[in-house]
Amino acid sequence: MNIYLKNEPLSVIEAELTVLFLSKETLELSNYRERLSKTGFKAEQDTFCILHGSGIVVCGVENYGSSALRSAAATVIKNVKSFEYSALKLSQYYLKNVAALVEGFIMGGYSFEMYKSEKKKITLKEIIFSNENFNGDPLELSALIKAFNTAKIVATAANYTRELVNMTPQDMTPNTMAVVAQDLADTNGLDCTILRDTALEEERMEAMIAVGRASIHKPHLIHLAYKPDNAQKCVTLVGKGLTYDSGGLSLKPATSMVTMKMDKAGGCAVLGMMKAVSELNLPIEVHGFIGAAENMIDGSAYKPDDVLKARNGKTIEVRNTDAEGRLVLADVLSYAQDKVKSDFIFDYATLTGACMVALGPYTTGMMGHSNHLKHKLLKATSHSGELMGSLPFNDHLKKLIKSDIADICNVASKPYGGAITAALFLDNFITDEMKDKWMHFDIAGTAYTESAWDVYTHGATGAGVRMTITFLESLIEE
Ligand code: BES
Ligand code: ZN
Ligand code: ZN
Repeated sequence: MNIYLKNEPLSVIEAELTVLFLSKETLELSNYRERLSKTGFKAEQDTFCILHGSGIVVCGVENYGSSALRSAAATVIKNVKSFEYSALKLSQYYLKNVAALVEGFIMGGYSFEMYKSEKKKITLKEIIFSNENFNGDPLELSALIKAFNTAKIVATAANYTRELVNMTPQDMTPNTMAVVAQDLADTNGLDCTILRDTALEEERMEAMIAVGRASIHKPHLIHLAYKPDNAQKCVTLVGKGLTYDSGGLSLKPATSMVTMKMDKAGGCAVLGMMKAVSELNLPIEVHGFIGAAENMIDGSAYKPDDVLKARNGKTIEVRNTDAEGRLVLADVLSYAQDKVKSDFIFDYATLTGACMVALGPYTTGMMGHSNHLKHKLLKATSHSGELMGSLPFNDHLKKLIKSDIADICNVASKPYGGAITAALFLDNFITDEMKDKWMHFDIAGTAYTESAWDVYTHGATGAGVRMTITFLESLIEE
């Protein structure tokens, strides 16, 4: 499916269907009001109707804000895909909404087909945006082209992340993730370094090595770098890449294990972000680090009661092998901070079920020391299409991860506030210099869905990609 912008009025663009977004108010004024009322269409958000004879697709919107339009565009594409039309066109938007519409069409149009022997036949080939606004006046072309192309790159990168996360643990192993990263580096002109086996031992990454030890697929640390000549800032992105999380010896119950292929979503999000920043040519140096490993069981498995020495020298008492993501991140965060001096360090991880309990499955949990940075992130990303909520640190919760026999324990002594205690564990691996420049994003709830919502279809969502790119763009000084 191709989505593009034509510098032409709507009436001269050839396409079988024209898309109209109608609110309750605009429905009253519409030429199609009577015909639509016969179908029962009342312009409720995300309700959909095709007037086949007139070549009109309508979708209800609560208002003409970006969230409502993004979701409506996704509804249109999800529905039109099952008909036999080949092209859609639209003109009904303002410049500030073009990105939301492009995202809605591209992300709503995604479905995971890799393992289906018969792929769905989709006749729809083109979505064409006209250079006209609501009143038929042309929009400022260069601004429109920029917004359109940026959104296309970002939404495509989010779909790339989704495709990788959706792949099965037998196909997407730590080694495959490294191959994918190398391919991306070759295609997009990035530097790529992979650490495995003895290289990880030389770095004394005992925590990450222990997590991956019982798997036939050995751990890999991936480092991608995008280094433009005109860099104004430097940002480090770190992702949890557990290609499967069985829980290890603290084995997950059968039903909780299903979907744990998604435990690599943080790492795959970092791959998507690296793809987007390089295609957008952002004037920001960006480093992506991924800890790729598989949490499994055999005679060599790490155990509850083990004490591990992390790369930064801190000792960790293991009390639950299912709290493995923080162990991998401990070493990768330490390595990333030693390798690159950056202005910000963000990590992305499907880290805790507790985050989902705290915020629900639609909102990513944001945790860190700096309220200033939290506000900056919330402000910059409020129109990114992703929801974020901040969970606060406090010294009482910090005490819960104290250990009687090592420097720190990998799980808290009390069950509440699990998303925060996990982030406070990570804090032990952030240097003093980076404390206020670090933010942790728990995407356990948002990375994967088994029922469609907003622009998402069944499976991975690409959580993290859009909001991070939106934030990076906000750092650029023109
Ligand atoms: N990968 C899981 C977290 C998770 C749970 C992600 C559900 C997505 C959906 C993580 O490694 C884990 O198992 N965390 C434990 C931590 C506990 C042992 C302290 C959890 O959340 O139960
Ligand atoms: Zn786990
Ligand atoms: Zn995990």
